[in-house]
Amino acid sequence: MSSVVVTSIGELVTCDDSTPDRLGIQQDAAVVVEDGYVAWVGPASQAPAADRQVDVGGRAVLPGFVDSHAHLVFAGDRGEEFAARMAGQAYDGGGIGVSVAATRAADDDTLRALVAGRVAEMRAQGTTTVEIKSGYGLTVDDEVRALRIASELTQETTFLGAHVVPSEYAADRAAYLDLVTGRMLTAAAPYARWVDVFCEPASAHAFTGEEARVVLEAGREAGLGLRVHGNQLDHGPGVQLAVELGAASVDHCTYLSDQDIAALAGASDATVATLLPGVEFSTRSPYPDAGALLRAGVSIALATDCNPGTCYSSSMPFVIALAVREMGLTPAQAVYAATVGSAKSLRRNDIGRIALGAQGDLTVLEAPSYVHLSYRAGVPIASALDLDDVAS
Ligand code: NIG
Ligand code: FE
Repeated sequence: MSSVVVTSIGELVTCDDSTPDRLGIQQDAAVVVEDGYVAWVGPASQAPAADRQVDVGGRAVLPGFVDSHAHLVFAGDRGEEFAARMAGQAYDGGGIGVSVAATRAADDDTLRALVAGRVAEMRAQGTTTVEIKSGYGLTVDDEVRALRIASELTQETTFLGAHVVPSEYAADRAAYLDLVTGRMLTAAAPYARWVDVFCEPASAHAFTGEEARVVLEAGREAGLGLRVHGNQLDHGPGVQLAVELGAASVDHCTYLSDQDIAALAGASDATVATLLPGVEFSTRSPYPDAGALLRAGVSIALATDCNPGTCYSSSMPFVIALAVREMGLTPAQAVYAATVGSAKSLRRNDIGRIALGAQGDLTVLEAPSYVHLSYRAGVPIASALDLDDVAS
């Protein structure tokens, strides 16, 4: 047994649905974490004793950010593609093949070090849970390798063999679909919690609604939960399919029709709309109106989508700032979406909140309030609090 009491928290964001802004803010609070779980929350003056004490000196403390959508297993980068896009080139998913080639060419230790470095970079910016997808291997061995490496770092691993049709199968899509729903799925499933598909008829590289349905149904059959990349490049079938199949999350949602919004609102918490504003930023696409989604009753999450193509940013604070400035969210709504919202998209209620029994994942700000996350955009004020490292 080992316990830590975190004291002198100027503003504690607990995330509590029973409070008007759902942030459950407490002033002058303390938190006790025992063996990795929250054991006590309340006024600092009443805090019980613990083995060790961490004094955060009046800074704000929040639940660690939950980054529920990231593609961290890749080698190389695509800076030139980004520069070309900023000069007017459109994104169509074709660049994924460049990352597939670089990833296949990397040895295990190199790839493992790259992924661990990215997870550490996220933690240094306040992220305490990250979902990691495969999808830059696209052979049985390379997809299994990606998931094995990912599963060393997180329990939220996602099989994305259906990211694109790899070039060697360009002339026979059906054969790749057979592989991805057959031998590759069987080999990948032991290392994955989720299955995902890039459902985007607007891209020649990605999958149609019918193909995506086959991928998701096979994944479900193999015992995996469902996630969908949908409605990123244009209006498409992804959102409706995700809701119909009961996917935990449909991600991007850049182009939404009124029917899509109604379907998501009807799905309530069952299918969360995960918004990825770093992608709209990095592909110069229109931002969806997250404020309107909330008013319609849609459950939303925020995540980075950290990947070498459409958003090479690992920063949840950047995502929060973009969502506030460009997607019509208040600072409170954005923080809720980046914690509780993302946790819901992973069907988790043990993360994203600071409450009795939840994981003791705390993020501290070099600032007095959560508002500063978007107010002080671009300033590195957030970091995960390392309770194991503190002196007694
Ligand atoms: O979520 N859209 C599909 N997949 C990634 C991009 C991958 C890439 O371009 O490398 C995304 O945006
Ligand atoms: Fe993605």
